[in-house]
Amino acid sequence: MLCLENVTVAYGRVRAVREVSLAVAPEEIVAVLGPNGAGKSSLLRAIAGLHPPIEGTILWNGARLDGLPPSRVAQRGISLIPEGRQLLGSMTVLDNLLLGGYLHHRRSLRHLLAPMGWLARRPEVQARLRRVFDLFPQLEERQRQMAGSLSGGEQQMLAIGRALMAEPQLLLLDEPSIGLAPNLVREILQTLRQLQAQGVTILLVEQDAYAALRIAQRAYIMETGRIVAEGTPQEILASPQIRSAYLGGVS
Ligand SMILES: Nc1ncnc2c1ncn2[C@@H]1O[C@H](COP(=O)(O)OP(=O)(O)OP(=O)(O)O)[C@@H](O)[C@H]1O
Ligand SMILES: [Mg+2]
Repeated sequence: MLCLENVTVAYGRVRAVREVSLAVAPEEIVAVLGPNGAGKSSLLRAIAGLHPPIEGTILWNGARLDGLPPSRVAQRGISLIPEGRQLLGSMTVLDNLLLGGYLHHRRSLRHLLAPMGWLARRPEVQARLRRVFDLFPQLEERQRQMAGSLSGGEQQMLAIGRALMAEPQLLLLDEPSIGLAPNLVREILQTLRQLQAQGVTILLVEQDAYAALRIAQRAYIMETGRIVAEGTPQEILASPQIRSAYLGGVS
């Protein structure tokens, strides 16, 4: 349902993504792995409409996505959870979550900046909050706390929760495990499995390749802007060349 063909992303003369083709099927978890600077974030940002490709096409359920502004991409059911989480630290957990769903309400910025109690009282918003809190009970306990005072793991949960408030069909995740202890990485990745079971499709960029390969059905490996390998986790892990060249050896 997501299909990239020969996508090239550039910053001036630097080609961060070069002629990348990839596909993600409904309800699949697909990982994109690769070293620093490989172009992984640029790829996600291109899909999300934040930095459109200079060449190639991005199709979503058969329709062109490239060229649409980020808000339109989001309205079509795609949510990006960016590198570094980008939470509003001096707003509460609840307000961060409510912001994630605001596109659904087609309200103006004036409404957005007003106190968001009116939003939280709407039944459909309550239902979405319930879903997020069922997935991350810690967030329910801390909903009145400032987002910036959460632990790293809780902040990642909030970033995912905020994206879920828009009820996406496709989640684009950029390094959700970064800075987290191994047990939290496992917890976050298991949550992605739960979301998959609820019908969400996931494109996951990860530095922790072995953790990502435990939950993904397929993976692509990028290096200097290109896809250099692709396969199931079994296929990728079975290749000593790929393991030593791209996955940091044995784990
Ligand atoms: N805003 C920008 N302006 C100029 N060059 C950029 C910009 N963003 C990224 N690049 C360059 O594009 C290339 C790919 O960067 P990108 O952030 O997509 O890689 P990445 O695979 O996400 O790396 P990391 O694992 O470190 O997050 C790098 O060479 C980077 O320096
Ligand atoms: Mg990156």
